[in-house]
Formats: sequence, C-alpha cells, structure tokens
Amino acid sequence: MTKIVYASKNGSTKRYAKQMAKTLGFELVEYREYDGEKADVIYFGAVYNAKVLGLDEFLSHHQDKIGKLHLVTVGLLDTAIKSNELEYARMLNDIKLRHEIEFDHHHLQGAIDYAKLSFIDKLFIRQRLNHSNNPSYKLAFSLTFNKWVDYTNYEDLALIIASVAV
Ligand SMILES: Cc1cc2nc3c(=O)[nH]c(=O)nc-3n(C[C@H](O)[C@H](O)[C@H](O)COP(=O)(O)O)c2cc1C
Repeated sequence: MTKIVYASKNGSTKRYAKQMAKTLGFELVEYREYDGEKADVIYFGAVYNAKVLGLDEFLSHHQDKIGKLHLVTVGLLDTAIKSNELEYARMLNDIKLRHEIEFDHHHLQGAIDYAKLSFIDKLFIRQRLNHSNNPSYKLAFSLTFNKWVDYTNYEDLALIIASVAV
C-alpha cells in the first residue's frame, strides 16, 4: 500500500499532492493526521528556509512503519541551476544523516503570494535577500518580491507520477 502525505503552508504543495492522489487513486493525508499504518509513503513537502516542512516531525513519529519513502519537495528554487542543486543536496544529505534513512527525491516548483505571507515569513525573505550567498536564491526571491507568482507545472508532476508508479 502507498499513501501520499503532504505538508503545505500556503497550498501549492497540497495541490500537487492532491493531483497525484487523484491520478493514482492513493490515499491523501496531511502529515500531522497520519495514522501510522505500515505503508510506502510519497511525502510532498514545501521547502521553507532550506528545510522540508514537517518531515523531521513525521519521520520521528512514523519512520519505523514506512516501507519505501519517496520525497517530493516543492520550492521556489529551480534545482536545474547548479547552486540551487547544491543547496538542496546539502539539505537532503542532512535529512539522510539525521534519520539514517534512504529515499529518492524529486523536485517541483511551487508558488508564492507575497501579500498572504506572515510577517515572520516576509522578514525571513528580506533577511535572505540581504545575506544569502547563493545568487540564484536572491534572484528567485527578488523576482517574486511583493508579487503573486505561480511556477506550478503539472507536466513535471506527470513525470514524477510515471516514475514512482512503476
Ligand atoms: C519564508 C519563506 C522561505 C522559503 N524558503 C525557501 C527555500 O529555502 N527554498 C525554496 O526552494 N523555496 C523556498 N520558499 C518558497 C516556497 O517553498 C514556495 O513558495 C512553496 O511553493 C510553498 O509551498 P506551499 O504553498 O505548499 O506552502 C520559501 C518561501 C517563504 C515564504
């Protein structure tokens, strides 16, 4: 059995997860509602501040009951760009070491609606814009600063669906 688990703050990750669940006919569950039943898991996690939302909490509660884990991250960064790929590689490696777990990884670009962000999130973006040493990160956030931008791409999702469904 495979379940789709998602962690989303502003909805874009949830939309991708919902679409995959609908296409494959898998159960969809928010990470805090997971019932702990033994299953393979496709975890859709939004990336905030170079961390996968909810994943540490989810794994610390349920890791022993997970068969195979597929991780799908959703973020603003395009991981086809080398410096972004490296930033993601560091993040994924940390997760593997921290939890002693193996998983395959796919990435999708999400969306941002600046007007709807919390005060803290806006503050974080300002701080990273000023201090990040990754120029692509700065570019991604300056292009979306004060705007509503949606990079959602369901064709990329279809490729992931095809690869996890085999
Ligand atoms: C405060 C803040 C920090 C973010 N940090 C990252 C990041 O480190 N890497 C990244 O790729 N995207 C980052 N993003 C972009 C989000 O991952 C993106 O907007 C994603 O689609 C959000 O998913 P959600 O709508 O499901 O919450 C950040 C967004 C905000 C508002």
